[in-house]
Amino acid sequence: MDLIDQIDINKLPNHVAVIMDGNGRWAQSQGKARVFGHKNGVNAVRETLKAASKLGIKALTLYAFSTENWNRPKAEVDTLMKLLSSALKKELKTFQKNNIKLNAIGNLSTLPEKAFQDLNEVIEKTKNNDQFTLTLALSYGSREEIVKAVQNISKKVVNNELKIEEIDENIINNHLYTFSLPEVDLLIRTSGEKRISNFLLWQIAYSEFYFTETLWPDFKKDDFYRAIIEYQKRERRFGKTSEQIKTIDR
Ligand code: IPE
Ligand code: IPE
Ligand code: MG
Repeated sequence: MDLIDQIDINKLPNHVAVIMDGNGRWAQSQGKARVFGHKNGVNAVRETLKAASKLGIKALTLYAFSTENWNRPKAEVDTLMKLLSSALKKELKTFQKNNIKLNAIGNLSTLPEKAFQDLNEVIEKTKNNDQFTLTLALSYGSREEIVKAVQNISKKVVNNELKIEEIDENIINNHLYTFSLPEVDLLIRTSGEKRISNFLLWQIAYSEFYFTETLWPDFKKDDFYRAIIEYQKRERRFGKTSEQIKTIDR
């Protein structure tokens, strides 16, 4: 039986987030430069996007570049930014054909001018697509996102647009970059690392985590399906007892 046939399409996660890790090690294991891994990582993005949209999942968020990644060697950062521009140009047709809306989260104004423009162009051209939302986390740091949210909420309080007592979880959600996205049901990290690396700290409060040893450039549709199958075996209790969950299910 194919892996995809083991998936219950009535129990899909609404939103899957992925920490795409292991490009450098993948390249180095073949005696190649790290950027060779990043180039091949683009294929894994394509595979994952196809697998997710084929299943009928609505939202996929990919961690492509962290605020901390600016500290990498300049040549590697430059290549990553160029790769972003070229991949966006190539994929635009696929986005339009498959009704995919491109979204981006992060401190986008820190991106190089060219990458920023290319990104905004594709976001603008796909803004009316509504079958699927692909979000790229670029120059993204969760702590920075939370700091900005606190600043923006504070401004509203100072300007009497908001009362302190009105600040609740919803208000905070609405001031994060992810305000328009559904809850993250599943978080995948490749390459065997088991850490969050400043990704979606608030948003993953109740996500299921899936870790795989597979290095990102090797990640294929079947790897994605495996993660979904594992996710569907989990019992999401949200603080309740297993018995309570089973009663609700019936
Ligand atoms: C993930 O792969 C891609 C980015 C962080 C941009 P890495 O480049 O982190 O690969 P490893 O972890 O060094 O193998
Ligand atoms: C996290 O991967 C960031 C991205 C996948 C874009 P890193 O490889 O940068 O994470 P650390 O530094 O090993 O935690
Ligand atoms: Mg890494």
